[in-house]
Amino acid sequence: MNTAESEAASQDITHNADIPTIGVLVSGRGSNLEAIFDAIARGALHARVGIVISSNPNAPALGIAAAHEVPARVIVPKDYASRAEAGMAIIAALRAAGAVLVVLAGYKPILDGCVVGAYPMRIINIHPSLLPAFAGGMAPRPQADALAAGVKISGCTVHFVTEAVDEGPIIAQAPVPVYDDDTVERLSARILDVEHRLLPQAIERILYSTVRLEGRRVILI
Ligand code: GRF
Repeated sequence: MNTAESEAASQDITHNADIPTIGVLVSGRGSNLEAIFDAIARGALHARVGIVISSNPNAPALGIAAAHEVPARVIVPKDYASRAEAGMAIIAALRAAGAVLVVLAGYKPILDGCVVGAYPMRIINIHPSLLPAFAGGMAPRPQADALAAGVKISGCTVHFVTEAVDEGPIIAQAPVPVYDDDTVERLSARILDVEHRLLPQAIERILYSTVRLEGRRVILI
């Protein structure tokens, strides 16, 4: 190794030591989880995924976590005496992994208030519509609702998670055109492509900015 290479290597080590750990909660396919890993690999997201928690033991997202050698936990809320107990298990797993930010990437259950309270303004979600339009319901419901409403533009939103579902302050949004010959599948695929760009960008911005809330407006400094 020449001097320049060894300096670069030691800078990498310093940088890695400071890299924030995120926890990702999933329930299904995991394409947004994969997008997070891709962004990390190409240097667009400076974070490490410390744990993946799935509410579904059969989620393909678990295979994605395994392929990236990231520890995964399956926490199925109905296996616990209450949603709060499942929430406590989620908090314990996130804390053990050292997660400083929690990303819901296609996570279906409604998080118990204890989890939201344990990570105030540190849990974010991606939703496949331009909130506050077409809030509520998992994909493909928001996409189907957008199509049925006849809107010409839909998109996706990254927002903070609060106890009111899909109502937390908006961090980032991106528009997606709705075409006359769209089906729910075609519109969903077009939105998903944009989600894969928006979510890692939003994670990077949240991790490396100071978050100020002015009313419902999120200002990232
Ligand atoms: C995405 O459409 C996301 O907006 C919604 O659930 C879907 C998850 O897809 N919350 P995937 O599991 O990341 O592929």
